[in-house]
Amino acid sequence: MPNQFPENFLWGGAVAANQVEGAYCEDGKGLSTADVVKYVPPGQRKALEHALSISRAELAAAISDTQEENYPKRRGIDFYHRYKEDIKLFAEMGFKVFRMSISWPRIFPNGDENEPNEAGLRFYDDVFDELNRYGIEPLVTLSHYEMPVELVTRYNGWESRELVGLFVRYADTVFLRYKNKVKYWLTFNEINAVIRFPFLGGGVLTEGKENEKQAAFQALHHQFIASALSIKRAREINPEFQVGCMLARKLIYPYSCHPGDVLKAQGENQMAQFCSDVQVRGYYPSYIKRHLADYEVSIEMEPGDEAVLKENLVDFLSFSYYMSSTVSTDESITERTEGNLSSGLVNPFLKTSDWGWQIDPTGLRVVLKEMHDRYQIPLFVVENGLGAADVIEADGTIKDDYRIEYLAQHIEQMAEAIADGVELLGYTSWGCIDLISASTSEMRKRYGYIYVDQDDEGNGSLERIRKKSFYWYKKVIASRGTDL
Ligand code: BG6
Repeated sequence: MPNQFPENFLWGGAVAANQVEGAYCEDGKGLSTADVVKYVPPGQRKALEHALSISRAELAAAISDTQEENYPKRRGIDFYHRYKEDIKLFAEMGFKVFRMSISWPRIFPNGDENEPNEAGLRFYDDVFDELNRYGIEPLVTLSHYEMPVELVTRYNGWESRELVGLFVRYADTVFLRYKNKVKYWLTFNEINAVIRFPFLGGGVLTEGKENEKQAAFQALHHQFIASALSIKRAREINPEFQVGCMLARKLIYPYSCHPGDVLKAQGENQMAQFCSDVQVRGYYPSYIKRHLADYEVSIEMEPGDEAVLKENLVDFLSFSYYMSSTVSTDESITERTEGNLSSGLVNPFLKTSDWGWQIDPTGLRVVLKEMHDRYQIPLFVVENGLGAADVIEADGTIKDDYRIEYLAQHIEQMAEAIADGVELLGYTSWGCIDLISASTSEMRKRYGYIYVDQDDEGNGSLERIRKKSFYWYKKVIASRGTDL
């Protein structure tokens, strides 16, 4: 029998505002960077970097386009109106925690108003109250791949230092408002994503820039400072708050035991932990200098920035983990794996998902052990899951055994990691209810325990249907991870 998880382990699921809420222009909400991203049919998809970036002309056209059809994140899954029904289903599974995000433009529609939008604040009050009714702890991300689009047109997003003050004001507003309703907070979702995807992670347009990486690393620095200053405010507002950082943590193996491959993998894994090095330890690690020099990047810092980073460390480290890949120095090895934010070389020992992501439960244990050794602070797995095209059987059921298998194997490895000595606060599997994909804006790629009747074009009744994995996860939680 697998090891039992600790009694206070936070079991649950995760979503992001822009992928579920819909109601994109209701109750005073401003347009967000997620609302301007178009659906692109599979045959027409470009490389990820291009799919997740946008030109000035496309942005301007999307801002003036009031149609919902072409922009799936504008409709989400209508969580905005159905949150009660959804939370009831989460409670039925026995969730202890629900990871969600606040949509910044719901609170500050353009990002730089003097007063927040009361209707937006009230919506999250209602959601937190509903969670509270069932004893579900909210885990709230302040910035999950969206920001007021106005901050892009006015400041070019996080490339501008102006964003620091605006973000801290937003953070301050929600910390004060929800100080008795929310204990666990995350500042930026997958903060390292901005390095490769400046628009997705930071609302930065790079068109026409000589050195995109300069803008990306500068934006990242501003996010580090904004995160640290928000943590400072959080502690002043409620010393009980627990604030974490959040990393996209993919594991990279050497393709072979050739020392060159080992060194290359080591370098990539080091880079994968660069952001947590800054946010957990409080300073830029020495190895980054060489990377920045290679990119010809020089980060502009203000006096006091180093102290801000040093003095406001996170309480815990959270991360997403979906897959692993390999690297090689041998140029004849070219077979690649897919991923939402990264790709790499294949690993012949692993199977892949329908979307070509390599499935590696043991890798999760490796990552947990490595990060716990490195930082010695509590960890939290806040995203993990299998995107698959589910089928409704003639009798109306959805038999997602492949998802159960994926999740069971990862949960088993988390239990092993805990036995290895890792302090793990909880697990929120990604997309506990089907939602719009972050990378492709598809609906067809489903992660949920709960099926949502909607297709890529937005057709469907939005009815919620319990999948087989729904009943399975319920018993996993009830048995504290032993009945897998
Ligand atoms: C993570 C994001 O990178 O991966 C989520 O934080 C996202 O927002 C998830 O949905 C899965 O990726 P995708 O592209 O399949 O939605």
